[in-house]
Amino acid sequence: MMANPKTPTPTADTVELIKSDVKPSGLEKMRVVGGCRLNGKIKVSGAKNAALKHMCAALLTDEPLHLENMPTGLMDVRTLSEVLNHLGVTVALRQDGIATLHAGTITSHVAPYDLVRKMRASVIVLGPLLARHGKAEVSLPGGCTIGARPVDLHLKGLEALGAKITLEGGYVKAEAPEGGLVGGEVNFPFVSVGATENIMMAATLAKGETIIRNAAREPEIVDQGEALIKMGAKIEGLGTSEITIQGVERLHGATHSIVPDRIETGTYMCAVGLCGGELRLENTRIDFLTALIAPLKEAGMDIQQDGNDVTVKRNGAKLKGVDIMTEPYPGFPTDLQAQFMAMMTLCDGAGMISETVFENRFMHVPELCRMGADITVKSNSAIIRGVEKLKGAEVMATDLRASVALVLAGLVADGETIINRIYHLDRGYENIVEKLTAVGAQIERIR
Ligand code: EPZ
Repeated sequence: MMANPKTPTPTADTVELIKSDVKPSGLEKMRVVGGCRLNGKIKVSGAKNAALKHMCAALLTDEPLHLENMPTGLMDVRTLSEVLNHLGVTVALRQDGIATLHAGTITSHVAPYDLVRKMRASVIVLGPLLARHGKAEVSLPGGCTIGARPVDLHLKGLEALGAKITLEGGYVKAEAPEGGLVGGEVNFPFVSVGATENIMMAATLAKGETIIRNAAREPEIVDQGEALIKMGAKIEGLGTSEITIQGVERLHGATHSIVPDRIETGTYMCAVGLCGGELRLENTRIDFLTALIAPLKEAGMDIQQDGNDVTVKRNGAKLKGVDIMTEPYPGFPTDLQAQFMAMMTLCDGAGMISETVFENRFMHVPELCRMGADITVKSNSAIIRGVEKLKGAEVMATDLRASVALVLAGLVADGETIINRIYHLDRGYENIVEKLTAVGAQIERIR
């Protein structure tokens, strides 16, 4: 395999992290002064939820994996780098979005609690570790603010490939049969992004054929599958609900450029919907966002793809209230629900939002109401009645997407909004302060 000449090769046994001025302490806050229109350009980063899975795929080969368009500034990427480093992977993250991960020798099969607790996605190391190393112990990620989020589908899927799984002392302990994992049929009762990815990765090195039915179809999974194919995997059916994998003896290194972050793209679209103005979102695609574009256009926005960029406009009239329901891809993404709700707070009329993916993903509602929004929640649906204006307030960020919804609300609210616990934002929005400031927002980190 020819390595891309731009990519670095890690030499140290430790994670080589880029220097960053973002050091979340848990004490940091964000101060936003409302009243701006947004005008200018924002470069969209590589997708967080693809990047994390590509990083785990590095465990499947003893050759280096080179990743481009990598959101190396994200805290989640740093946290997962530490988990992987603990397992023996050298990780080099460069500021220009190039990363190299090299799992020459796996030196530990245990992902410990103090690392996993910082980020649920760590459970994705389970499949690749088991497939390559024959055993894996991963601390259970535990509950989180957006619902119980169990990992039973991951475990049942791995059992279907022959793994023996026990739960001991808060750890999932998994062991492959002698001779390694064997292909099997995995029928998911409902769609899970993470379980599909975990099983797809494990199956690349299992003996024989694996069929995943009711597989997730998210663009990030297609991207991951394409990278695995570059590494020598045999995968068919990506982007459909049935994925077939023929196991191979070994995978090799590869170079892959990560898909644009559709959730970051959609977040900035909702920001324009709320504040008005015109943004050019660079290096992104709207074909991943059809379930968002349709209601945004129905509400009154103008959105156009122009080569690798997307322009999004709202000039003049208020947005109309529209209804949406979150669903697995290609439905409306749950990861844009909070931002869409923030946008609807100032709509003409009312909109209804139903959340069907997670059972507890309305934590932003009381905070938006503290800023003057009129929102009523009943079971898994929220009715948002448009109000004349929002008013700045001190609010609390509770998860990544809830936090950014409060930033959007702050951009349009009268006066000053102080958002506490913004470390959530740093997990998933690269350079958000710089990106928004460049297009006219008044936003800064304070202590
Ligand atoms: C991924 O989480 C994303 N995270 C989430 O993004 C996203 O909200 C979610 O997919 C849905 O699109 C990453 O990719 C790192 P699931 P994941 O398994 O894989 C239940 C963000 O803000 N379930 O598709 O954990 C689960 O509780 C984050 O960037 C089980 O019951 O989501 C949920 O209700 C937040 N058992 C539903 O399935 C299982 O074994 C879908 O979850 C697995 C999941």
